[in-house]
Amino acid sequence: MTQDEMKQKVAEAALSYVVEGSIVGVGTGSTANMFIDALAGMKDKIKATVASSEVTAERLRGHGVPVLDLNEALTQVDSLSVYIDGADEFDAGKNLTKGGGGALTREKIVAAASDKFVCIVDESKKVDALGAFPLPVEVIPMACELVISVSKNLGGNPVLREGFTTDNGNIIIDVHGLNITDARGLEDHLNSVPGVVTNGIFSHQGADIILMGTPVGVETIV
Ligand code: 5RP
Repeated sequence: MTQDEMKQKVAEAALSYVVEGSIVGVGTGSTANMFIDALAGMKDKIKATVASSEVTAERLRGHGVPVLDLNEALTQVDSLSVYIDGADEFDAGKNLTKGGGGALTREKIVAAASDKFVCIVDESKKVDALGAFPLPVEVIPMACELVISVSKNLGGNPVLREGFTTDNGNIIIDVHGLNITDARGLEDHLNSVPGVVTNGIFSHQGADIILMGTPVGVETIV
């Protein structure tokens, strides 16, 4: 089975976590795109969606799936029923790194507004320690050099993502070479630096359930 076939299987499996009549949070990336395409088949069974990026909102609308702004959604319900999204890496504690597509901040916000985070990945995303995939940090442009300096002091090799602006109008610094042994501690530490909007460690907002695609089928990690 190819990597894309494994992604397709988990995207389809995630449909069983969609709560009928509810507002569903939808992630960003190639696996999330497959989920969006599958969700389109049951668009009449959900109330609406909240998208974690402009690109996801556009794809949902292209399928005729209703998309609400998060603030609008939270005037109708106390929370979204479920957030479904991919990840760049996950560890045994269901901590994630995300933001390969640069949507980490909105992803974290929508995840925080949801009752449950179902993460959909192929088996290549499973790691012993987070950090082999460069850690994205969304930064207010004025703080670029400050965050680069802090990242170097942490032993990382920070690289500005050239020519990229987030949906929130900020920059991304990808920090290479981190061996993340304390995901929660590093998430908190980086987020405490003035000018950091958020970083791509999802420990506070880790997955509740991971659906992992393997060559022999979908494994559910709870
Ligand atoms: C986007 C993300 C994605 O979930 C992550 O990059 C995984 O993407 P893909 O499903 O394409 O492998 O965090 O910001």
